[in-house]
Amino acid sequence: MVTVITIDGPSGAGKGTISRMLADKLGFHYLDSGALYRLLGLAAVRHSVDLGKPSSLSVLAGHMDIDFDTSDKGLRVLLEGEDVTVELRSENTATLASQVASYPMVRTALLQRQQLFARSPGLIADGRDMGTVVFPDAPLKIYLTATAEERAKRRHKELLEKGEDVSLRALMEQVRSRDERDMSRDASPLVPAEDAIELDTSTLSIQEVMDTVLNLVYLKGLANIIDQ
Ligand code: DC
Repeated sequence: MVTVITIDGPSGAGKGTISRMLADKLGFHYLDSGALYRLLGLAAVRHSVDLGKPSSLSVLAGHMDIDFDTSDKGLRVLLEGEDVTVELRSENTATLASQVASYPMVRTALLQRQQLFARSPGLIADGRDMGTVVFPDAPLKIYLTATAEERAKRRHKELLEKGEDVSLRALMEQVRSRDERDMSRDASPLVPAEDAIELDTSTLSIQEVMDTVLNLVYLKGLANIIDQ
């Protein structure tokens, strides 16, 4: 029996960091579902597939050759054998991803690919609809949030560290409009699953969020956390 823990929420709420730390701690596999939408956006541009054509995008979604390589230090993401780890994280790729992610047909085409990540002993699934659509039977569903202001500040800090100076006000606008688009779309909108546990991370440190999540894992009896 494979244990799946879903971690959903808007961008900047801390899903990626917490999911990776949790997967590491529990020895579980990790699904970064946003990366699949990002890869599809990149693959579409490479193969000159029209971003306005959901049927062509769905065919590509089912066939694109992707790989998550964890053999080296850190995680490398490969598209058709080429390392696209850095390109994947750009704002441009995020925009492509959010476009392709809005089509129900594309989401259906990626559904099974996402479910195949559930392998023994367990999976941490990070995204927007992990608890509502992809793994509705998961025994623990967490929904991380943070205020738009705090999420924009976190993104600002991240970009400054990469040497990019974007105004905080512009980032705040971007965060608000992306939230609006993700929450109001018809296909798998960003909403917490009915049985999800919501956690506002605005005033919490990463360690505090981790401690809370580990407590939930422990309370649900999902893993033996020896050194907790
Ligand atoms: O989490 P991220 O920034 O890598 O996600 C990129 C885009 O993909 C974002 O616009 C939301 C979308 N996405 C989605 O619709 N469903 C998911 N499960 C994950 C991401």
